[in-house]
Amino acid sequence: MKKSYAVLGISLAAIVGMGVLAGSIKGKEEERQAINQSPVVKEKGIEAKNEVWGQYFPREYNSWKLTKKSDNINDLLKAKPQLIILWAGYGFAKDYNAPRGHFYAVQDVTNTLRTGAPTGPTDGPQPAACWSCKSPDVLRLIDEKGEKDYFTGKWARWGNEVVNPIGCGDCHDSKTANLKVSRPWLIRGLESMGKKMSDMTHQDMRSLVCAQCHSEYYFDTTKETGPDGAEKITNTVTFPWKNGFKGEEVEAYYDSINFKDFTNPLSKAPILKAQHPEYETFASGIHFQRGLACADCHMPYKQEGAVKYTDHNIGNPLDNVASTCLTCHQESEAEFKRVVAVKLERKEELQKIAMDTLAKAHLEAKKAWDSGATEEEMKAALQDIRHGQWRWDYSIASHGAFFHAPEETLRLLAQANELGQEARIKIAAILAKHGVIGYEAPDFSTKEKALALIPIDLAKEITAKQQFQNGLLQQWQKEAIDKGLLNPQSREGMSNKSSYSGN
Ligand code: HEC
Ligand code: HEC
Ligand code: HEC
Ligand code: HEC
Repeated sequence: MKKSYAVLGISLAAIVGMGVLAGSIKGKEEERQAINQSPVVKEKGIEAKNEVWGQYFPREYNSWKLTKKSDNINDLLKAKPQLIILWAGYGFAKDYNAPRGHFYAVQDVTNTLRTGAPTGPTDGPQPAACWSCKSPDVLRLIDEKGEKDYFTGKWARWGNEVVNPIGCGDCHDSKTANLKVSRPWLIRGLESMGKKMSDMTHQDMRSLVCAQCHSEYYFDTTKETGPDGAEKITNTVTFPWKNGFKGEEVEAYYDSINFKDFTNPLSKAPILKAQHPEYETFASGIHFQRGLACADCHMPYKQEGAVKYTDHNIGNPLDNVASTCLTCHQESEAEFKRVVAVKLERKEELQKIAMDTLAKAHLEAKKAWDSGATEEEMKAALQDIRHGQWRWDYSIASHGAFFHAPEETLRLLAQANELGQEARIKIAAILAKHGVIGYEAPDFSTKEKALALIPIDLAKEITAKQQFQNGLLQQWQKEAIDKGLLNPQSREGMSNKSSYSGN
């Protein structure tokens, strides 16, 4: 690195002359001082507005804003219709897209059919906790109201408060600008494994800021009767890490507390839905073992004139192979893209086999119930479906796992397929006992065909959502602007896309 600076310095001097170089050194010194002084963005509390940080740190802010360019909606229910069968009876069967830029986090959680069409602060299918990984306003609310109050009630309760997308205040301390983990559930999750924040190194922090959101979680639900006699429900984001990060260890934890996210109405299996265990799965891969952090690939250093800073356009490291992979590896850019593409292909192949198997198991189980099977007969098969689906989901719900931890991903997919087949063998025997031989599950090969097999009225969901978007959502935004929480200019150039709006 030092050598190339020297070469750059000599050639610059030769081309533009000493005067300009002296000026640039002076500029560099000023920049350095400005960075060392680290201005105080906010003396007390959390600054959630990214553009306020931008006044002090323009380079980081401008690169962060580029996450706006990653705006493509990729409807995964269309690409993988098996998902609709696997998640029947749960919000994900209505709408599920691939992740896109951090800039869209608030828009996407608001637009998804999963959050429904609330008509007021106490209405709607989702709890307040659904905002937790979308915005620094969440940290501001926890700071102002306390964690418990933040987690109490419905998602719609905070519609006029959570308005700024994932940004500076999520990863940095508003006073010192140092990296900071502010989400208490991550700190508790680490403690449940016997780890302490005070032991974490700077390199650990370059992953832990991401682990606040890119992790597996469930809602720990408690109920209380308030002073007014009304029932108050609190859903606290909790990391299931007590037994460890491996798929089977997390599964054992969920089994031990008898947890399920939903019951699939076709098979009646008690299902676990994996969220996005990027941090946990990354930890089993070679790059983590060799000491890399998320930021090493997703936030490379960037040179602008005399200043070196961290690129905050968090996205696909392969868009920038020269400053990510090639800082350590020697191969060509094309070779790297090929290596990653082959890993993706292998995962896609096994993933499809596992999903087809599990979807058939759900549909065949439905046939068994319809043919008079008893709970006692079905119990073991349903447990296989639960465990098989969990292992499939845990291995792929992190969209980067095929690269972060390829062997572990393929191992879990093989197990998912095996457990799904075990369930199908058991169900075939139950079907035979009830006189059904040679049953074949119906076709679920397109989004339309799969939707027709599950109890859902998607057209109704979409109409209600659009009413919400034209009504209550507009009111939320106006209130947030009036309260000074949202700067309308911060949303300039933001397209409004969703899987159902036809763009
Ligand atoms: C998802 C987490 C995350 C978000 C969001 C984020 N940063 Fe950072 N930021 C980092 C990481 C990681 C580093 C590297 C720190 C290190 O290694 O010392 C960093 C470094 C910095 C630095 C130190 C100088 C540099 O460039 O290396 C500044 C200043 C900074 N960020 C400002 C901002 C501002 C302003 C925003 C909002 C526009 C922001 N950050 C949003 C994670 C984040
Ligand atoms: C406050 C929660 C939060 C934090 C902190 C966070 N992320 Fe994210 N990240 C998300 C969410 C939510 C999405 C999906 C946004 C969407 O699709 O609307 C996402 C999307 C992404 C994507 C997909 C981007 C694209 O353009 O396809 C990558 C890559 C990513 N995050 C990496 C990271 C890394 C690396 C860090 C730490 C340096 C980090 N994230 C920190 C919540 C977070
Ligand atoms: C050694 C480099 C490297 C490290 C370290 C790394 N990633 Fe990745 N990440 C990648 C590559 C390469 C991809 C695949 C990009 C693609 O889809 O082609 C990826 C994909 C992702 C995706 C999926 C993006 C999408 O749009 O589908 C997310 C999210 C993500 N990484 C988050 C993280 C988090 C969080 C960490 C740390 C826990 C991390 N990554 C560590 C290289 C890395
Ligand atoms: C900071 C250094 C560093 C960066 C950046 C880095 N790697 Fe690596 N990579 C390593 C190390 C160290 C190993 C392990 C080598 C070993 O121990 O044999 C490794 C191993 C690998 C392997 C072989 C193991 C496997 O999982 O198949 C591949 C492929 C790979 N890296 C691809 C990438 C890609 C693609 C990127 C960019 C997105 C990248 N690396 C970025 C250091 C790095």
